[in-house]
Amino acid sequence: RTVAIVGCPFSGGQHRLGVDEGPIHLVNAGLGQQLKDLGWQVEFDGHHQFEDISAACQSDPPIGKLKNPRLVSNVTEAVAKVVGGHAAKGQLPLTLGGDHSLAMGTIAGTLSKHPDAVVIWIDAHADINTPESTDSGNIHGMPLAFLTSLASSGNLGGVVTDEVRPFSWLDKIHLPTSRLAYIGLRDVDAGEKAVLREHNIAAYSMHEVDRYGIGKVVEMALDRVNPGRRAPVHLSFDVDALDPTVAPSTGTPVRGGLTFREGHYICERLFETGLVVAVDLMEVNPSLKDAESVEQTVAVGCSLVRAALGETLL
Ligand code: ARG
Ligand code: MN
Ligand code: MN
Ligand code: MN
Repeated sequence: RTVAIVGCPFSGGQHRLGVDEGPIHLVNAGLGQQLKDLGWQVEFDGHHQFEDISAACQSDPPIGKLKNPRLVSNVTEAVAKVVGGHAAKGQLPLTLGGDHSLAMGTIAGTLSKHPDAVVIWIDAHADINTPESTDSGNIHGMPLAFLTSLASSGNLGGVVTDEVRPFSWLDKIHLPTSRLAYIGLRDVDAGEKAVLREHNIAAYSMHEVDRYGIGKVVEMALDRVNPGRRAPVHLSFDVDALDPTVAPSTGTPVRGGLTFREGHYICERLFETGLVVAVDLMEVNPSLKDAESVEQTVAVGCSLVRAALGETLL
């Protein structure tokens, strides 16, 4: 099988510079060769360039609270096409971020080939704020609201006079909330908590990880969104799901996270199901923290990806 590495040096969904360097560090650490060593054919056509889009978005004032709405919309639309193209060829797209707003693109791309896919979202954060509920205005806290149609281009929270409304390309995309499961949550905004409850979304926080153990939690999550174990799985892994002692170089670290083994177990178990059709690894920011922390975070990122693509301990 072929894995297509989609490097996405993009930081427009949040305010900290440097997260765009994440994919470059992951690839330079030898991730491509590591996947070849696992028996994968690896396709990597270089990091995706968003320069034309950035140039076209020179003027991108906020819409309502949303920051960089045009840039994020255009970049994620481009990512959706690239990821969808690889999926259409039967390849497994591995998207390296970059900030988590990119998941609007990766999941839309997956759904274009696998309309019945379920999403397993590993994160400290729920990333399901709407343009009304967001405090920060950072779009990396909102991808799941747009994907699940809780948000759409018609309710960006401000007047839009653009010829093409930002995020209108996503309006036709719909991930039912019944096909979304979270593991690792511990920093969920009040508006997001209400949404999780109201839509009865399968959300396993660190509390459930402590209570049941990671093995049980992964099965519970799969039982909720994929009871027959037949639907394709899109794994979106935000490195900040891990405890900051394990993955320090990330923009929004939250203490009390997944251990090294818990993070890897999730990836190993999902690979074992044979259902994984796409993987994202997001929010590695090599410009935060000291060199040693950066190296540690990049190494852990590579190792999570290897686990999701079949590396076993024995
Ligand atoms: N909930 C916060 C917000 O809306 C933090 C989101 C962090 N997201 C992430 N992908 N790291 O801004
Ligand atoms: Mn996060
Ligand atoms: Mn939609
Ligand atoms: Mn995230």
